[in-house]
Amino acid sequence: MNELIPYNANVDLDVQVKRNVMKVKGIDKLLELDKQAVTLHKLAKKAREPKSVQNFYMAYASYARREIGQILIDDLDFGRGKVDKVSTLKIEYHETKRWQKLAKIEGKVFDKFVKDSKNISFNKLYGLITIQERYDIIAPKIYYGRFQNICKGWEDGSIDHIVTDPPYPEEFLQEWSDLSEVASRILKPSGYCICYAGQTHLPDYINRLSKHLNYYWQMVFMQTFHTQIFPRKIFARYKPILVFQKSPVEVKNDWITDVIKPTVQKDIMDWQQDVESYKQIISRFTKQGEVILDPFAGSGTAGMACKELQREFTLIDDGKIFEGYKNEEDQ
Ligand SMILES: C[S@@+](CC[C@H](N)C(=O)[O-])C[C@H]1O[C@@H](n2cnc3c(N)ncnc32)[C@H](O)[C@@H]1O
Repeated sequence: MNELIPYNANVDLDVQVKRNVMKVKGIDKLLELDKQAVTLHKLAKKAREPKSVQNFYMAYASYARREIGQILIDDLDFGRGKVDKVSTLKIEYHETKRWQKLAKIEGKVFDKFVKDSKNISFNKLYGLITIQERYDIIAPKIYYGRFQNICKGWEDGSIDHIVTDPPYPEEFLQEWSDLSEVASRILKPSGYCICYAGQTHLPDYINRLSKHLNYYWQMVFMQTFHTQIFPRKIFARYKPILVFQKSPVEVKNDWITDVIKPTVQKDIMDWQQDVESYKQIISRFTKQGEVILDPFAGSGTAGMACKELQREFTLIDDGKIFEGYKNEEDQ
């Protein structure tokens, strides 16, 4: 049995646990460590020990799994005979795949996750993989800063379409005006500017977008849940999607419906849209190979949808959400 060092409340988990897991050599010993940590975590949970102690054991299991994943990647024995060898380890094959993915997560991101998490779970740990995969696709194509500044140097008519999700509260209304102005310059003629919107300030968004662009249509994005709008006593079950177009107005889409079917995915940020709804919009209004800009990119959902639909994409956001990723407690 590996000896787990005693929990020290004064040292960050990523420091005390990582250091000790690194000392354990060999896949068998690491597997033993993982098993031991999982058992001790279960016992601590049952005994209602403080979360910090439960987390301590989960941190052991997390680092052990990451280390095992690294060995699986590195070890030549796991090359051609990978499947056979893995089966002797008595771990599910798909688990070994996940552990290899854990090993590919940037060290500082992994450490931050362990250090900041108040309640480490395997679900959250494996959620990091999704974020890393998203990051790998998004990071090379995102500009950090305000779109008003970033787009200044861009050529007129250099973007085919904009598909975006600006902030809805009143204090952000100016962003909608700026979007209209910038879009009317950088979009190609008849390029669409499509925005997710809220209902409370809908007339304001429409007025502001109309200043430099043409109203084309309103789509309805049905939701699987409702948002309770207290000032109006309304359970909002849909989200408007405003479709504007740079002049000249021209029908470029085929016959389409104006309802976006509901899907849910809120795994990175609270206000994140889901990839599927973006895909429905993008596939209805744009063509393969066209360049799509999301100037309010957040977690880069539009980019993921574009990638899947073989559209080129450029993203802008004023917050560095992928720097150290999201604090998982917000998930
Ligand atoms: C509603 S969120 C977009 C969420 C995104 N659709 C997703 O799925 O993750 C709006 C984003 O716009 C960013 N933002 C606000 N004003 C901005 C500006 N002037 N330039 C660039 N980004 C801005 C916010 O920081 C936030 O990340």
